[in-house]
Amino acid sequence: MDLKLNGKNALITGGSRGLGRQCALSLANEGVNIVICGRTPETLENTKVDLETAGAKVITIVGDISVPDKAKEIHAKATSKLGHIDILVNNVGGTLSREDISGTNLDDFRGTFDINLFGGYELMRLVIPHMQKQSWGRIINIASIWGREYGGNISYMSAKAALIGATKHAAVSLGKYGILVNSIAPGSIAHPQGSWERFQNNNSPEVVEQFISDNLPLGKFGWPEPVGDLVAFLSSDRAGTITGTCIPVDGGQGISMI
Ligand SMILES: NC(=O)c1ccc[n+]([C@@H]2O[C@H](COP(=O)([O-])OP(=O)(O)OC[C@H]3O[C@@H](n4cnc5c(N)ncnc54)[C@H](OP(=O)(O)O)[C@@H]3O)[C@@H](O)[C@H]2O)c1
Repeated sequence: MDLKLNGKNALITGGSRGLGRQCALSLANEGVNIVICGRTPETLENTKVDLETAGAKVITIVGDISVPDKAKEIHAKATSKLGHIDILVNNVGGTLSREDISGTNLDDFRGTFDINLFGGYELMRLVIPHMQKQSWGRIINIASIWGREYGGNISYMSAKAALIGATKHAAVSLGKYGILVNSIAPGSIAHPQGSWERFQNNNSPEVVEQFISDNLPLGKFGWPEPVGDLVAFLSSDRAGTITGTCIPVDGGQGISMI
């Protein structure tokens, strides 16, 4: 399937590892010019080599998206090199607390929103004017099944739910400008240096097997390619009527039937 994305410019936050790296690779394979950001220069440079091997023009930006105003700096650097952004993938996510309400103070709750929502929200606002001007744009926010439905800790679940809400609201506002806004809700996806790799390394085979048996209908952890390839598809005109939705990529792990 030719997605006709050749020559478009994409910014992927946290594109150096894991799901973000795969989103960058899937878009690079479609001829998209890529900007990736992350906090670790070495990982960014390693991924840059992989993306260039796929034929992409690649810009790397070192920056922590959870820091106030960093989004502005990242956007300014990206557009100074590429001119404008056609496709934004807000991929960075994480949590500062793994507890419930009794164990999560306001600073950690708020900080988790900084990681998952506020930087990405600011980036959305920064890319929209050019997308409106050219009557074409794509924004894809990486949420979680623990945002569509109950799961995980209180700060992460709340921040991802807010991200899904902001995605839907922006989609309704921006549809008339040819800008499609969607979110993706991954389930448990393992990849090098990811949290589920750590979980498997830090627990006994019995504990891992029990987790898989209790939670993962496919009998194994997910892998990044379905997320990256969905991002590429949602970026294309073939997905022209898909907006405002949250699409699970979870191997059936989520318990919601809608
Ligand atoms: N993997 C899963 O099972 C799963 C499940 C549900 C949802 N998700 C969501 O999917 C997204 C990607 O997950 P992942 O597993 O690939 O995450 P990950 O392993 O933590 O990788 C995140 C990427 O983002 C970068 N990054 C992290 N914090 C950053 C920050 N504050 N500013 C800039 N870059 C930052 C990392 O590079 P540096 O560390 O060098 O900055 C890395 O490139 C997240 O939103 C996550 O919540 C993942």
